[in-house]
Amino acid sequence: MKNHFPWEHPEPIWRKDTTVQECSNLTEDTSAEIVIVGGGITGITTAYLLTKENKDVVLLEGSQLLNGTTGHTTAKITAQHDLIYDELIQHFGKEKASLYYQANDEALRFVRGTASQNQIDCNMETEDACIYAQTDEYKDKLDKEYAAYQEIGIPCEYKDDVPFEAEVKKALYMKDQSRFHPLKYLSFMVDEILKNGGRIYEHTVAIDIEEEPQLSVRTKQGHKVACDKIISCSHFPFCDKLGFYFARMYAERSYVVAIEPKKPLTAGMYLSVDEPVRSIRKAAYDGEEVLLISGESHRTGEGVDTSFHYRALEEFAAETFGIKNKVAQWSAQDLFTLDKVPYIGKATKNNENILIATGYKKWGMTSGTVAALLLRDLATGKNNRYEKLFTPSRFQADPSLKKFLSNNFNVASHLIEGKLELVGTRPESLEKGQGDIVEINGKRAGAYKDEKGKLHIVDTTCTHMGCEVDWNSAEHTWDCPCHGSRFSINGEVIEGPAKNPLRCIKMDEDTAQPVDDKDQEEKPDTPEPV
Ligand code: FES
Repeated sequence: MKNHFPWEHPEPIWRKDTTVQECSNLTEDTSAEIVIVGGGITGITTAYLLTKENKDVVLLEGSQLLNGTTGHTTAKITAQHDLIYDELIQHFGKEKASLYYQANDEALRFVRGTASQNQIDCNMETEDACIYAQTDEYKDKLDKEYAAYQEIGIPCEYKDDVPFEAEVKKALYMKDQSRFHPLKYLSFMVDEILKNGGRIYEHTVAIDIEEEPQLSVRTKQGHKVACDKIISCSHFPFCDKLGFYFARMYAERSYVVAIEPKKPLTAGMYLSVDEPVRSIRKAAYDGEEVLLISGESHRTGEGVDTSFHYRALEEFAAETFGIKNKVAQWSAQDLFTLDKVPYIGKATKNNENILIATGYKKWGMTSGTVAALLLRDLATGKNNRYEKLFTPSRFQADPSLKKFLSNNFNVASHLIEGKLELVGTRPESLEKGQGDIVEINGKRAGAYKDEKGKLHIVDTTCTHMGCEVDWNSAEHTWDCPCHGSRFSINGEVIEGPAKNPLRCIKMDEDTAQPVDDKDQEEKPDTPEPV
């Protein structure tokens, strides 16, 4: 489908008014005590904490700092993670559910404390967070969540309404949470890391770990960083051999529109728990107060015409608040673990020198900070009472085996279905600005015709494990439904776990036939799906 939406280049408001320090790429072998991979909230906060303790830290970022999920967040800092506490009590018991709350509450206080002690001008505001139900079915779930809050001792209010036009059965408020400008806050930390002697390299893709003769991270550009410890804070763990995380998580995309409303929101941050989910918060932008409306989640690569999702959010915004002005739109990708609790800790049971943090659902501001505080303690040999709760090895005993199997069934079905799909479209029949799955010599390929009429054609076989990517019409990317890898129109990797680009198919302009180009054939990163 042609993308009729007017904004071709989605960009979060955070990046429009903040300049993040730029760093060079790594051009030689080096060494450090600790190598951190990933320049989002987890990697940067962990590096900040460790350099404060005089650790020699190298941070590697595959693209630009703060341009992944952290740069595309809605930046609510809250321990209210949708409906979760009743479920945690059912699965893990009251003690662990309570620890989950305490860990996130501590993270919230750490972020607020860091901002205020260092006078970081990051638009920090304290507000209540609220989840609300609009149907009887979800009111029942909210009743149970309220009971869980009381059991755990979470400060809250259970009300009948929200301060904007919506038919609400019940609304559960968690008191004194926060919102902020994440890039202003984290830019401060980047500067501090560099002041404290930490080294940061951008555009340096970590691709593998070597354990012999010395622990080291190998980069795509062919350099090594030798070290005592490795901390993987990349969105998806950068190295597949670390515990098969690709089989234990799935990726979802969601969308955000920023608008100047006709009817202002008085206070609070909101999340509807019924479908379709809508998240609402205020933000300061360009001297004005804007609303960020988000929702429309779907498994990556499984959306239909993804520009539809922006339009749905815009319609909701227009009906509920009125739109004076549209300011921005963007989308984000989040990873979900099978039991909804992030994986933070030793990547594999037997090696305490390789640590990992991933799977924050949509709650990266608190979960990323929880992770950084825990990783700091694990890396420096300190006890931390949250270690057991978040340990990735809990998977052996947790109740999510069924989900594990269905997740991998889903991957297997994408592996097969995509290959069998019958495609009739020829690339020449695409309109300008349109992308789609096409047929070339009886084979499936992905084609995009740009505004000048030039065709960009790729092999749709994902280089991670061989699933078939699909066209994302809102972002103009090729997205993989299996583990969430994303590729540009020319096949470059935008988001992993894939590390190699999609194969480009060159066409002979006279014959409209593909030109054989065996040189660039890429093998999948890993041989066998789990
Ligand atoms: Fe794993 Fe595509 S991301 S197969």
